[in-house]
Amino acid sequence: MSEYKRTLVTTALPYANGPVHIGHLAGVYVPADIYARYLRMRGREVMLVGGSDEHGVPITIKARKEGVTPQDIVDRYHTLIRDSFKEFGISFDVYGRTTSETHRRTASEFFRRLYDKGEFIQKTSEQLYDPEAGQFLADRYVTGKCPHCGAEGAYGDQCEACGTSLNATDLINPKSAITGATPVLKETTHFFLPLDKWQARLEEWILKGHPEWKPNVYGQCKSWLDLGLQPRAVSRDLDWGIPVPVEGAEGKVLYVWFDAPIGYISNTIDLVGDDYTKWWKDPETRMLHFIGKDNIVFHCIVFPSMLMADGSYNLPDNVPANEFLNLEDDKISTSRNWAVWLHEYLRDFPGKQDTLRYTLTANAPETKDNNFTWRDFQARNNNELVAIWGNFVNRAMVLDHKYFGGKVPERGALEDIDVKVLEEVRQAVAATADDIENFKFREALRQAMNVARAGNKYLADTEPWKLWKSDPQRVATILNVSLQICATMAIVGEPFMPFMSADLAKMLGIDKLSWDMAGRDDILPAGADVAEPKLLFTKIEDDAIKAQTDRLERIKKENELAGWTPAAVKEDVPFDDFEKLDIRVGKVLACEKVKKSKKLLKFDIDDGMGGRVILSGIAASYPEPEKLVGTEVLFIANFAPRNMMGHQSQGMILSAVNPDGSLTLCSPSKECKPGSSVG
Ligand code: MF3
Ligand code: ZN
Repeated sequence: MSEYKRTLVTTALPYANGPVHIGHLAGVYVPADIYARYLRMRGREVMLVGGSDEHGVPITIKARKEGVTPQDIVDRYHTLIRDSFKEFGISFDVYGRTTSETHRRTASEFFRRLYDKGEFIQKTSEQLYDPEAGQFLADRYVTGKCPHCGAEGAYGDQCEACGTSLNATDLINPKSAITGATPVLKETTHFFLPLDKWQARLEEWILKGHPEWKPNVYGQCKSWLDLGLQPRAVSRDLDWGIPVPVEGAEGKVLYVWFDAPIGYISNTIDLVGDDYTKWWKDPETRMLHFIGKDNIVFHCIVFPSMLMADGSYNLPDNVPANEFLNLEDDKISTSRNWAVWLHEYLRDFPGKQDTLRYTLTANAPETKDNNFTWRDFQARNNNELVAIWGNFVNRAMVLDHKYFGGKVPERGALEDIDVKVLEEVRQAVAATADDIENFKFREALRQAMNVARAGNKYLADTEPWKLWKSDPQRVATILNVSLQICATMAIVGEPFMPFMSADLAKMLGIDKLSWDMAGRDDILPAGADVAEPKLLFTKIEDDAIKAQTDRLERIKKENELAGWTPAAVKEDVPFDDFEKLDIRVGKVLACEKVKKSKKLLKFDIDDGMGGRVILSGIAASYPEPEKLVGTEVLFIANFAPRNMMGHQSQGMILSAVNPDGSLTLCSPSKECKPGSSVG
């Protein structure tokens, strides 16, 4: 990486139709932030670009649902997302938005340049059209059955079940997401970018030129290229987006995936103006796109084709895309509210940004999908951050205050064990750097953690508290070495846990952290002041975790209910058959659990004919059976008596089966005479 002068790090622009969640963070923003922070600490020139993606169908659908304008939606979520990223410590140099004036102009001019160069073809084809809404149904405006995997509910641009990208016209049994109507085909003309024109160059550039890309990224590119690229539509018949800047194209806007990546350029322009060319066109600038796996084709094939069609831009040097993060073994889903939302996390765990950053990095979905669980989050905080990282710093600083009044002690000659621990620390620092540079953030974090592990072991082995009386000079050396290790932790920990690092640096009196200092034995000069230690991390208690798992439990139930449909109606029966059943009203005289049975309740019923006993398997739904006394129920009176658990049951009580499997007794809506017939 040394041949480059500067690095431009872009992060996928999140759609401003909802808040960001831990999946976005783990996949894109945390790794990109680690990378950018690391480069800054190495003194390298870097720009971290982010922003909101404010066009596209997901936004207009949301607006329609809420009865507000798309602009209202993006204003609300852009602000929420920007502010929560900031509070979370994602160190964007710029966080823009694609409804900005700069972006409208930049994207328009980009399109127009390609148009003037003859880089587009125009094609007329039949597209799905909603006759009730009077509009074309681009992308997510249609759902239907996926032609590849057969899943229902696939979108017009992609099937989320199998990941295949689709054309709306591929869907089986398409339905309009606006009116539910079955769409009809209608002719329309669109601009297409002929990706096939760039096929050979893309193959040369990716397949030959970048064998070092992550296997998941390289593999996806290869299968796209092997299939053979086709022209791709870059305009849409929609009223939300950047108007196609060509005469005769009224009512058409740029396809969101055409305008959004140009947002990276616009946002750079917002920050540095004309100097953007230095970041985008100077061959000594290296560009990296941090994205999730669903964005690979756009960043490796489509956007590069656009850049090549323009001809004056750099291509990305790497696209370190991640796989997906699951939540408690289930796919994260905005529509099912199955997510941990960043703004809610910040509210529920104030001051604990680093714990989430740490957990998401330790579990990063780098090579395969990975799983976030609240139990693991708690364990990582309590057993790793508190017990290893924070513990070492705290012990070193407390001992220093105890023996040396909070000054860094002068050290004597180093013994083998001192040399050894310093060497271990240096190796861990080098490995951390190496792993970050190779986008292996999980492993990098593990290596950084090894610095603290080495420190803890060093204190446990040297036991300075036992030496104070006999050899205070040796204690001075041990604590000097320990405090130098703390200083290294402030440096190597910074990319991952910037809040911890700022606290630690402040306690140690370090003004400016620089990676080159990490691992050295002279970061802190003898005689320097060390502040009173305060805990870097505090324990997370069970109740805080339970509140989160209870919330997810609740959401799971809500989703089950929302997905429930009544069972199909059974086949017809003759009225005579119905008449054979004798259904009556009865009044509950007594009700109790049947001993040794989990399911059964025993009812004493006033049936107007001298009374009877009926057993019913509804104990789980009525944990306080005595409360049923006095209520009226419906029962079938002419079933032959049956023996159950030592009782005779004379009939069957009717109850409704709820979606969650629980049962509700059926009662007449007004008081009836016991024994009345029902029919
Ligand atoms: N909004 C897109 C998504 O969430 C990502 C856009 S990335 C950009 O999948 F390159 F287009 F900006
Ligand atoms: Zn599918």
